Amino acid sequence: MPEDTPRLVVGVVGAGTMGAGIAQAALQAGHQVLLHDVDAAAIRRGRDRIAGALVRSVDKGRITTEERDAYLAALRDVAELDAVAADADLIVEAALEDLSLKRSIFRQLDMNSLPDVPLATNTSALSVSAVAEATHHRERVLGLHFFNPAPVMPLVEVVATPETAHSVIEAAVAFASGLGKTPVVCGDSPGFIVNRVNRGFTLEPLRMLEAGEAGVPTIDAAVEAAGYPMGPFRLLDLVGIDVNLAVARSLFDAFDEAGRFRPSPIQLAMVEAGRLGRKTGGGFYRYGVNGDQLGPEPPAGLREASGSQAAGRGMGIDERAIVERVNLAIVNEAYRAVEERVAAPGDIDLAMRLGASHPLGPFERAGQMGLRSVVEGLRRLRATTADNSGDQYEIAPLLWQMATV
Ligand code: 3HC
Repeated sequence: MPEDTPRLVVGVVGAGTMGAGIAQAALQAGHQVLLHDVDAAAIRRGRDRIAGALVRSVDKGRITTEERDAYLAALRDVAELDAVAADADLIVEAALEDLSLKRSIFRQLDMNSLPDVPLATNTSALSVSAVAEATHHRERVLGLHFFNPAPVMPLVEVVATPETAHSVIEAAVAFASGLGKTPVVCGDSPGFIVNRVNRGFTLEPLRMLEAGEAGVPTIDAAVEAAGYPMGPFRLLDLVGIDVNLAVARSLFDAFDEAGRFRPSPIQLAMVEAGRLGRKTGGGFYRYGVNGDQLGPEPPAGLREASGSQAAGRGMGIDERAIVERVNLAIVNEAYRAVEERVAAPGDIDLAMRLGASHPLGPFERAGQMGLRSVVEGLRRLRATTADNSGDQYEIAPLLWQMATV
């Protein structure tokens, strides 16, 4: 831990994938962590997950057994939410993506903690202001949005509402930096930066799959060959298909049901079938008990004709076209985000490289492709893609403007 970072007592509410990952990052930065969830079994699962990750770090020679033991000794299971509120210097909530649940947690935290304790939500795409409304001290509420896997991914979006106090933003920035992360401050707009700009990374491939244009392994292989660390379906399995669906739903609602954010029927069917990804042992792929990725599984929710195609080789479009569709969707949304003042182009590029491990930020990509070919590509997609009923290939006004000057 850097010497100038004070050791804090960090409350983590929610011990699932993200909560445990955030707790682990805080422990490894030298903080004490109070871990809370709805019951003892959930807390235990979170603790086991952290312990397992630390054991793997020892095996890889990244930390010593003494360090592992010290981190685990600094982790306290806390059954009562009020006790987290009373004892923590900073609290990060990583419970389910359910606004009324988050509001009730924040109401309770607000009533039982000192008013200068920052209360952060790790929401993926809910409005931070809507969560803050449940409190009497809205100035101490903000978003601290981590990326999965939280101990590894270097970005934290620090989401400030119009009411968040400057001192609270500063404290959150210092906390994220102390975890060895890069904080990017952004406004409380739907999906913040990464979950908004990156929507096309999964929704566009889901459209291809639904239309029978390409199969899961083909799309993943094409995208990975283009320099992305994970194809969209492997990423869906990592993040959780239910989590990804919740993000798409939030954005779809927030943007007046804009077609480009429409959740895919395949996502819905996968969630209904309980195939949520790695955490349930399978999603678009199957996973072994040790987490190794096994073969692909035919996706749920595909019409029969496209289903048999999608489980196997790519059909209809080639690898270059697959990657181009993904890239164009991301670039187009990035221009919309700048136009709506979500963040500056440099911050969006940084956030996409660090929060989604993209080889290039969208504006770097647009520069490489040339704005005229970006516009031409979107026009071509609008003219030739089977499902062009929504606004997914409509050219962002700012992109159009910049391309035609
Ligand atoms: N959980 C915890 N740690 C993991 C992990 C997992 N599921 N998968 C990999 N790791 C760790 C490994 O243990 C390893 O740690 P080490 O450096 O201490 O040994 C490190 O990550 C690198 O792993 P590998 O060398 O095995 O694999 P890669 O080099 O392929 O990296 C990756 C793995 C970092 C996950 C990389 O593939 C990547 O960046 N993928 C993209 C992930 C991404 O886009 N995340 C954002 C999702 S969106 C989100 O979270 C927002 C939310 O609101 C939905």
